Amino acid sequence: MSRERLSVVVTRRLPEAVETRLSELFDVRLREDDTPMTRSELVEAVKQADILVPTLTDSIDAGLITQAGERLKLIANYGAGVDHIDVATARQRGVLVSNTPGVLTDDTADMTMALILAVTRRIPEGLALMQKGDWSGWAPTALLGGRISGRRLGILGMGRIGQAVARRAAAFGMQVHYHNRRRVRPEIEQALEATYWESLDQMVARMDVISVNCPSTPSTFHLMNARRLGLMKPSAVIVNTSRGEVIDESALARLIRAGDIAGAGLDVYERGSDVAAKLRDLPNVVLLPHMGSATIEGRIEMGEKVIINIKTFEDGHRPPDLVVP
Ligand code: DGY
Repeated sequence: MSRERLSVVVTRRLPEAVETRLSELFDVRLREDDTPMTRSELVEAVKQADILVPTLTDSIDAGLITQAGERLKLIANYGAGVDHIDVATARQRGVLVSNTPGVLTDDTADMTMALILAVTRRIPEGLALMQKGDWSGWAPTALLGGRISGRRLGILGMGRIGQAVARRAAAFGMQVHYHNRRRVRPEIEQALEATYWESLDQMVARMDVISVNCPSTPSTFHLMNARRLGLMKPSAVIVNTSRGEVIDESALARLIRAGDIAGAGLDVYERGSDVAAKLRDLPNVVLLPHMGSATIEGRIEMGEKVIINIKTFEDGHRPPDLVVP
């Protein structure tokens, strides 16, 4: 006897290969336009679906979850970060939440290094010069940046991505330091040759580069606030490939403009795509449009993870990437 297929609603366009596979396996409603769903479309989706596949551009808050119908059983997020989902409310309502960790670690860590190099070696300024046709040839004093080899990198958040950044930074000759809620196991610390700082303030004050790699949670909101950003050396730079809310963006812009911080490389912003104007016209600030996980391979693997989570749930087991509040 054939089982009734689970009804799955996907809120955004996904890579074609992922959409095709989802359609083969489930009774899936795919998005036609590449735009986020409106609130009323989301409400309709949670009322009708067994499984919702949202992305970080959807706010799956308590208000939405409490409007869900009896059918909704799993929110299989297409992405690792779940700060846009009220996981605690979902749990109270008996709705499971899963995500896609691991498959975007290397891509995000690569982008972190790209931002570190872009800011310290002034790559966008060089590119702009070439694109405008303004380059008049090599000069001993032109576009001098800072060497990263031998510099101290302070990683804020030593999870999967933080550790992948540490490995890359060590290969570039950087000295790796970190602060984390919990100190990582000694064997990991040793393998990464990473120095642990219990005091975030003390670490921030001594680093040449700070890399934000912790998730956005109520306790990491503005962890890099005006006071703490003010502890950075004036020659230091900060990069963020995690979530914008960890840094007080206005304070960062102010300190960079005042020359109290040397520069920043940001892939994520406090208000999503509404990037503070004060950051946009600074030559020593490199801004990217949340591209950390944007590789073809990564985005397909994220889809595979979503499918495995749904399939495992359908087969009556716990999805492997269950998120617990
Ligand atoms: C995630 O999966 O949370 C990433 O931020 C997407 O790039």
